[in-house]
Amino acid sequence: MRIRPLAATVGTLLGVSTLFFPATVAQAIDHPHRPVVVAHRGASAYAPENTLAAVDKADDLGITWVENDVQRTKDGELAVIHDTDLKRTTNVEQVFPDRAPWKVADFTMAEIKRLDAGSWFSPAYAGERVPTLEEYLERVGDHRQKLLLEIKAPELYPGLELQTLRELRREGWLDRSHVRRKLIIQSFSADSVGMVHKLRPDIKTGFLGAPEVADLKTYARFVDQINPSHRTLTPEYVAAVHQLRGAHGRRLEVFTWTVNDGPRAALLKSYGVDGIITNTPDIVRDATARSSTSDHSAFAGASAS
Ligand code: G3P
Ligand code: CA
Repeated sequence: MRIRPLAATVGTLLGVSTLFFPATVAQAIDHPHRPVVVAHRGASAYAPENTLAAVDKADDLGITWVENDVQRTKDGELAVIHDTDLKRTTNVEQVFPDRAPWKVADFTMAEIKRLDAGSWFSPAYAGERVPTLEEYLERVGDHRQKLLLEIKAPELYPGLELQTLRELRREGWLDRSHVRRKLIIQSFSADSVGMVHKLRPDIKTGFLGAPEVADLKTYARFVDQINPSHRTLTPEYVAAVHQLRGAHGRRLEVFTWTVNDGPRAALLKSYGVDGIITNTPDIVRDATARSSTSDHSAFAGASAS
């Protein structure tokens, strides 16, 4: 794991007043109703992933937390999309047949806006568009929802962390209220999460993955969450994470993904996870509301989804 040094220009770019948040001033997002249910790419079992419709659907279901993926277009815009190419979730092959391999980074935002990002999912969503991060933040804000933002494939987009933070700040997401209660930034890249933590030490962060227990202490210096796939998660691993304090001095948390069935969600609740990231947030919410944390043995045989 290598954490890049902080660029000298960062203070100027982000604004000095928004930097230098000592860890003691750091936000403390409490989760009174554990596990927190996070709509993965929005309520993506019911609406096309990472679209405004998926955010709306999560809101319709009464889900407060949504997860998304942020990448950068050819002309430097921030777009909300999961895959690093446009094939699976848009009609790009029809609209731009000569532009293989249809990488997000090879298209301008104006070109991407011409694509239908809903028909692949259902004709009911024909005409849905790939949102910019700005549009996405505004919609999430309109719903008073909270955001688990993933910096996606940062190795492809140098400076994505700083640019994302600047956009969050421009849209009002880095004020005290948002940072304290409404925002977590995560990535599969430890370097990327480390960079976010260096740029804005007050923001809650998560590492996507399952580091060796022996390495957790190192991660805990710059993250508040360890967010592993549920498939290999064990109660012992959750306990090992919980033994440590994260970057803001609170118990290191576990948000696990992607859990789409009720019995599995109830089992993971019994492990003590702090959050469950799911395409079916209504199902997970109902299943975890019903179960108690002492149900571990009852669900021990549930299969992984
Ligand atoms: O939030 C967890 C999850 O999004 C990580 O995997 O591939 O869906 O971005 P992926
Ligand atoms: Ca994601």
